[in-house]
Amino acid sequence: MLTFYDMGLSDSLTRATANMGFEETTPIQEQTIPLVMAGRDIIGQAQTGTGKTAAFGIPLVEKIEVKTDAVKGLVVTPTRELAVQVAEEINRIGQFKGVRALPIYGGQDINRQIRALKNKPQIIVGTPGRLMDHMRRRTIRLQQVAVVVLDEADEMLNMGFKEDIENILRDVPEERQTLLFSATMPQPIQGLARNYMKDPELIRIKTREVTVPNTEQNYYEVHDKQKFDVLCRLLDIQSPELAIIFGRTKRRVDELFEALNKRGYSAEAIHGDLTQAKRDSVLRHFREGSTEILVATDVAARGLDISGVTHVYNFDIPQDPEGYVHRIGRTGRAGKPGLAVTFVTPRELGQLRLIEQVTKKKMVRKHVPTINEAIEGQQRLAVEKLLQVVEEGETHQYNKLAAGLLEETDSVSLLAAALKLLTKEPDTTQVRLTEETSWRMRKPAFDKRERQGFQRKGAHKGGRPHNKGQRQAKKFGF
Ligand SMILES: Nc1ncnc2c1ncn2[C@@H]1O[C@H](COP(=O)(O)OP(=O)(O)OP(=O)(O)O)[C@@H](O)[C@H]1O
Ligand SMILES: [Mg+2]
Repeated sequence: MLTFYDMGLSDSLTRATANMGFEETTPIQEQTIPLVMAGRDIIGQAQTGTGKTAAFGIPLVEKIEVKTDAVKGLVVTPTRELAVQVAEEINRIGQFKGVRALPIYGGQDINRQIRALKNKPQIIVGTPGRLMDHMRRRTIRLQQVAVVVLDEADEMLNMGFKEDIENILRDVPEERQTLLFSATMPQPIQGLARNYMKDPELIRIKTREVTVPNTEQNYYEVHDKQKFDVLCRLLDIQSPELAIIFGRTKRRVDELFEALNKRGYSAEAIHGDLTQAKRDSVLRHFREGSTEILVATDVAARGLDISGVTHVYNFDIPQDPEGYVHRIGRTGRAGKPGLAVTFVTPRELGQLRLIEQVTKKKMVRKHVPTINEAIEGQQRLAVEKLLQVVEEGETHQYNKLAAGLLEETDSVSLLAAALKLLTKEPDTTQVRLTEETSWRMRKPAFDKRERQGFQRKGAHKGGRPHNKGQRQAKKFGF
């Protein structure tokens, strides 16, 4: 792998990447940076957490002249939190060159954004709705934009942003460069590419599996009513550093985080019905580690890069295979290990198989742990905590107290009491969760031509693969 020094970047960018702790390029960075520098349109697909942001951010910053009053680069993201995160990463990349990115998103005071725009950022990172709003008000002018990036391009089509995206692209000069990035590139993307890109180069980092190898993938077959108790047992046994739990609906997420708090876990919720101020504070607490569990709808499934997320739990199975790939991609980032757990009801087993076919990776079926296993898990944790304190060796101010206690009580009873205090015993506080019905996998809307264009060479007569799973898997176009 090449280093950033080998990439022939300007001094300020080489310094910035070093300052960010980047030494070697990731495969998507190595392949896309030179092509973007050369002016090519790119469709970039690489696994979650492999540095796609810098793959477009570095050449974007490199190409932009500092002394300009106009917006030269535009990045569009599907969620507000992602707009903020991407703008921050671009600002880190541009820190020595003096290139600045401003996030523009819904839910934040528009007048504040208008004031910030007066500082003339060269790059804007925005969500489609708010960008359109500024375009209508003429507070953002895109007539000098040279590079447009659609991060999570496929998701923006999914969410019904297609029209907004097309409107935005029509407003930007035709001679611009267009870059599309995502870990998943389903077929409808090609329609967008045909209409809005110039001879795009498809950079697909070839890996056998769509998901990252360092994330273990397990599933538990459970009825909806059992899910919560099983979740609590798993949390007790696995004791994640930070965990994201995905629920199907906003109501589900609200009920779930309340239930977790009732049972003594430190959890907060994020979904689209909360105020932006609340969404911001929840995410801040989670990033800082003051909240250990984030319960979320798919609003947190895409792009978010939070270090320390060791576990992802799909309390409800995701709506489609792409959703699965992105959700579990919140762990196992930048080569770190991760664990992804999916709950599946007996009726949803077909969906699970479809996900496996698309990701080309089997999830390992696990047996629901017993209460005793959960207790043992917590006890093990208590022992580990205790031993760690012993190892750190900063307990001398307690020695006298301990010696005094040992004169009255035997050492085993004392240690057992300390372990009991440190162990979180199973909590069976009653909680209320409304039962969810299973959903059917969402099928993307393909036109006939696209479906035909997607068939593999040598498909049997009539072009339809034999089994339904294979047909579905092909449609998702990984
Ligand atoms: N060359 C590099 N060396 C070390 N770390 C890197 C490098 N490039 C990126 N990273 C770090 O890796 C993490 C993941 O990067 P990023 O968020 O860009 O992934 P992504 O490919 O966009 O993932 P997703 O598909 O989930 O959006 C970030 O914390 C980023 O700072
Ligand atoms: Mg990303």
